[in-house]
Amino acid sequence: MAEKKVKAVILAAGKGTRMKSNTPKVLHEILGKPLLGYVLDNVKNIVNESFVIVGHHAEEVTEFVQKNYPYGKTVLQSPQLGTGHAVSMVCPELETFDGTVIILCGDTPLITETTLTKFLEHHNFLNSDITVMSAIFDNPANYGRIIRETDGSLKCIAEEKDASANEKAVKEVNAGIYCLNWAKVKEIFSHLSNNNAQGEYYLTDIISEGKKLNLKVNAYTLENNDEIYGINSRINLAEAAKMINNRKLKNLMENGVTIVDASSVWISEDTEIGADTVIYPSTYIEGKNKIGSNCKIGPCAHIRGGVEVDDNCKIGNFVEVKKAKIGHNTNVGHLSYVGDSEFGSNINIGAGTITANYNPLTKVKSKTILKDNVKIGSNTVLVAPVNVEEGANIGAGSVITKNIPAWALALTRSPLKIIADWVKNIL
Ligand code: UD1
Ligand code: CA
Repeated sequence: MAEKKVKAVILAAGKGTRMKSNTPKVLHEILGKPLLGYVLDNVKNIVNESFVIVGHHAEEVTEFVQKNYPYGKTVLQSPQLGTGHAVSMVCPELETFDGTVIILCGDTPLITETTLTKFLEHHNFLNSDITVMSAIFDNPANYGRIIRETDGSLKCIAEEKDASANEKAVKEVNAGIYCLNWAKVKEIFSHLSNNNAQGEYYLTDIISEGKKLNLKVNAYTLENNDEIYGINSRINLAEAAKMINNRKLKNLMENGVTIVDASSVWISEDTEIGADTVIYPSTYIEGKNKIGSNCKIGPCAHIRGGVEVDDNCKIGNFVEVKKAKIGHNTNVGHLSYVGDSEFGSNINIGAGTITANYNPLTKVKSKTILKDNVKIGSNTVLVAPVNVEEGANIGAGSVITKNIPAWALALTRSPLKIIADWVKNIL
């Protein structure tokens, strides 16, 4: 297969001071996925390799990338001397690369694959050497301003802290996303200067430096400003979470899923849901999941990731599910916990059933396997590891600690005693 000659560089070495957190900014999560995960996912179909520039908390960020993104490589930037310095860290890795480099920020999770594709097409169509993404903001404060020549062509980018009053009045801002014709642009990184208000090597200076080398420099103006919403604080994090959620709910509704109350439901980007499934209010679905058609989920259900629910199932009120497979026509209606489980089809789980999957002494998690047609009475504890074979029936209130054979009845309840007139006799 011909190599896709596009690589991504994702800047993620900065400190994120305003998060006031021990967790590195790019590992803060929205619906179970770190911000950096969103950016890596958004470029995964466009590039064949992504370089993540790490610095602050480099070990944690590196571990996340290595564990979850085999096509991602991390490159250390230490100390962090600015965005231009950050990109220069990949120069040795890309010494002989002759293609396009897309630069993105690890704290901008809303950028979409569609926009990045259009951006790349625009860059290629113009046969551009440097294309910068821009946006028009009513309040451009804190962003770099796109400064143009009188003929409309690009002149430079002025950072807020370096900008003159006239430049500050400009509403066109630098989104912080760039396409570079690498072979031509790479040499700029060896002569960027830090002679500016922040004493940093600015990536934004590649515009003016590129012009000195007679490179073709262009801007691509974004249609939807939400896509470059950056996370600098917890307030931004909450706002971005809402935007990501609303986008997902809209997409699901357009594809035949009923969301009864979009203002109280949260569904992660990586959850697939089949048509005619109804999501009831106050349901929270995070991580990667697959839910079939014609299911009823909630109200107040919590699906925590690694969950596959087949068609025609019910995951009802106050039911928590994580890492579980649930076969078709199975109901978990009320007040239950299902974790590390494999349930077959046509199963009924009574209210208040718990899969006891975790031994806090050994810290070992074990599996509960229920075969087709099993019926579990209310208030049952299934102490894992445990298997219940096909068609077996568990009496209400049981604690199941052994495997149960097919079609058997199992119950651990003590026999019911009735003492006639007991109350009258003690009065
Ligand atoms: C940057 C741009 C600004 C643009 C804005 C868009 C520069 C000089 N300015 O400003 O024009 O409008 O983004 O959001 O580029 N980082 C590193 N190493 C460093 C410094 C930063 O990896 O040494 C990373 C940060 O983790 C962050 C990204 O680069 O992900 C942007 O850095 P930040 O300091 O937030 O730049 P801004 O001031 O927002
Ligand atoms: Ca920023």
